[in-house]
Amino acid sequence: MSSSHNDGAQVAGRGAGGFNRWLNKRFPLDKMLREHITEYYASKNLNWWSVFGSLALVVLVIQIVSGIFLTMSYKPAAADAFASVEYIMRDVNWGWLIRYMHSTGASMFFVVVYVHMFRGMMYGSYKNPRELLWIFGMFIYLALAAEAFFGYLLPWGQMSYWGAQVIVSLFGAIPVVGESLVEWIRGDFFISDITLNRFFALHVIAIPLVLVGLVVVHILALHEVGSNNPDGVEIKEKKGPDGVPLDGVAFHPYHTAKDLVAFVAFAIVFAAIVFYAPEMGGYFLEHANFEAADPLKTPEHIAPVWYFTPFYAILRAVPDKLGGVILMGAAMILLFFLPWLDRSPVKSIRYRGWMFKLALAVFVVSFFVLGFLGTRPATGVYTTLARVFAVLYFAFFLLMPLYTKWDKTKPVPERVVYHD
Ligand code: HEM
Repeated sequence: MSSSHNDGAQVAGRGAGGFNRWLNKRFPLDKMLREHITEYYASKNLNWWSVFGSLALVVLVIQIVSGIFLTMSYKPAAADAFASVEYIMRDVNWGWLIRYMHSTGASMFFVVVYVHMFRGMMYGSYKNPRELLWIFGMFIYLALAAEAFFGYLLPWGQMSYWGAQVIVSLFGAIPVVGESLVEWIRGDFFISDITLNRFFALHVIAIPLVLVGLVVVHILALHEVGSNNPDGVEIKEKKGPDGVPLDGVAFHPYHTAKDLVAFVAFAIVFAAIVFYAPEMGGYFLEHANFEAADPLKTPEHIAPVWYFTPFYAILRAVPDKLGGVILMGAAMILLFFLPWLDRSPVKSIRYRGWMFKLALAVFVVSFFVLGFLGTRPATGVYTTLARVFAVLYFAFFLLMPLYTKWDKTKPVPERVVYHD
């Protein structure tokens, strides 16, 4: 019998097993599944904070899929955009559902990612050896911010138009090149059809490509160093004779089962918002955006969507335009430097002293208060409060090298602590 005949007989005779062998000789499917899923060991004491990474992946998929369907009926032209969104909402079969999934998904993306980042800050997941993982995460955050900003112009409502106008004109504060840069970004002397067209291109293809690429390297970096855990103990340092970390359990089925529960809970919340409160009181879809863009009529208050308002409050707290732009940028960029600002010998909040706990609490409160202030007009007491909380926000970062060094930490156990 010839060998090719023999191969064929084996494939036919052993069904799926034969096909698997054929495939894996040509493509490392089993190897990849083992490395990243069934033989990727994460600590057995991971808690609910750790489900938000998987949830971010879920939202990414929701956004891409709903976005593809929106693009089938949306028209990226100043004369048609607003009407095409109304058409999607009223005439396209299930168009309202697709659109509300996408608009709710945008806000939920930031909810999930902010919680995901907060978990990293609580457990010191940015510290050695996860600095690069954190930096990839920060690039994801910036790409997400750009994606949301470009997307928001597309419905061509009043807030789309004037929001873009405010943010793009910020570049005008840059000395010498500012004004030319603003024209270059808009492609015109004002926010126009040309601007809408290029923001559409960036929103539907350029940034999503970058985002997906960054998520891939984020997860590759995670799997190289291994997941952190609520104790901040490196589980790879204590392995059994089989080479498996003593405190690790396989990502699949153990962590996937837990992530699935989180997914169901998330889906319930997501559906409740989509079906009952898609505008979320004007926080997810701003009231002014139900009116078509009018370049001759400025809305009374221009405020970005809630996920940018903490930074917007910092921008407006500074009387000087360039100063405001610099501080707003710094408020985001400082997060990149956490791995080096934090001098503590321990990772997790569980083993840190009161100074870090207090600083983190002040940071969270400042973020929420600034977020609220960013939705209010920049007048009187609101501006004063924005200045106070902006100082507290920056103090968290700038004083970190000091308070993390002075803080009295507790001894970290050798193995992770796990109570059934
Ligand atoms: C599209 C957005 C994102 C996706 C899909 C994503 C996905 C994931 C996944 C699946 C994990 C592993 C599961 C987990 O530990 O939660 C993870 C871990 C991690 N992510 Fe993200 N992530 C995103 C954004 C970010 C951002 C913005 C940051 C921070 C700036 C970040 C920082 C981290 C860190 C530090 C870890 C390791 C956590 C640990 O081991 O304790 N991620 N990410």
